Amino acid sequence: MLILAIESSCDETAAAISENGRKILSDVVFSQVDMHAEYGGVVPEIASRKHVEKVSFVALEAVKKAGISPRDINAVAATCAPGLIGALLVGANFGKAAALSLGVPFIPVHHIRGHIAANYVAFPELEPPFCALVASGGHTVIADVRGYTDMEVLGTTRDDAAGEAFDKTARVMGLPYPGGAAMDGAAKKGDPKRFRLPRAVIEDAPFDMSFSGVKTAAVNLIHNFTQKGEEVPVADIAAAINDAVCDSIVPRVVAAAESAGRKTVVAAGGVAANSFLRARLSEECGKKGIKVYYPPLSLCGDNGSMIACQAYYEYLAGNVGNSSQNCYATMPLSENLSKLAL
Ligand code: KG4
Ligand code: ZN
Repeated sequence: MLILAIESSCDETAAAISENGRKILSDVVFSQVDMHAEYGGVVPEIASRKHVEKVSFVALEAVKKAGISPRDINAVAATCAPGLIGALLVGANFGKAAALSLGVPFIPVHHIRGHIAANYVAFPELEPPFCALVASGGHTVIADVRGYTDMEVLGTTRDDAAGEAFDKTARVMGLPYPGGAAMDGAAKKGDPKRFRLPRAVIEDAPFDMSFSGVKTAAVNLIHNFTQKGEEVPVADIAAAINDAVCDSIVPRVVAAAESAGRKTVVAAGGVAANSFLRARLSEECGKKGIKVYYPPLSLCGDNGSMIACQAYYEYLAGNVGNSSQNCYATMPLSENLSKLAL
């Protein structure tokens, strides 16, 4: 089965073709990063407009690179939630129109489920059940993945995502946008013990997280230096932020996996590229005999392959939408999106 999938939930216009789920025939990404860089963050209106300009080109490139004809496509999928609503609507409407014109089903895909599926693309042997950590610029979620389309959120951030804490503090320190990778690099030369940033604990919700405190404390720390006209110790502050973020995430993932009785943990999302997070998670999971999977860096950020792969499993589960399918800025991971189509 050949699926053309579109991803447009944030600032990448992406398309891919999957064959029977895990085999990726093509993957095309147009990144808008340069356009948003001058604003220091994603501008939703610009993102939507760029998706409009690029979506047809990216989808046609994916078809061409796969060496197939549009008539060979058996279904069209698109990310329908969660994300920037204007951005999602562009990809979803393109996907619905393509499905209608080809006379094939339309499959709505949850973006976070897609991030998890990046691991199916990378690891042919990987199958649910497992515990997943999805950490990106907009989301930080720990989920019990019981099946390909059956998942339950065990813990989530109550405010900012981990990636947001990296991106905002990087911006204040003048590091290149988006800041996560730059913070990762800078922290390698820093002393994580020089500054102690807060680690939030949420009462009665042991797997929930919060990153707004670490973000605010780090921004205040940076301003203390700039207000006194002193040089900002970028590497040490980056190391302190990495340390606080890892301390907030890693023990919760291990505890959540143990409470769900899972012996496998799967990491996903842009922040899963973080070298400190990978090292800490592997170390702590190793102590408990838990195996950890990380997608290759190319599949950590937003891409079409992960959506094309997850779409196959949604299709097998009967989660097929129609042309009334809407998009949603927020949506629980447990929700089957196609059930929301009229
Ligand atoms: O998954 P993604 O591409 O987009 C969203 O769905 O949000 O994630 C982007 C996020 C950004 O916040 C970026 O700074 C962060 O992933 N990121 C990293 C690293 N590489 C990307 N954060 C920490 N360390 C990294 N090496
Ligand atoms: Zn994402």
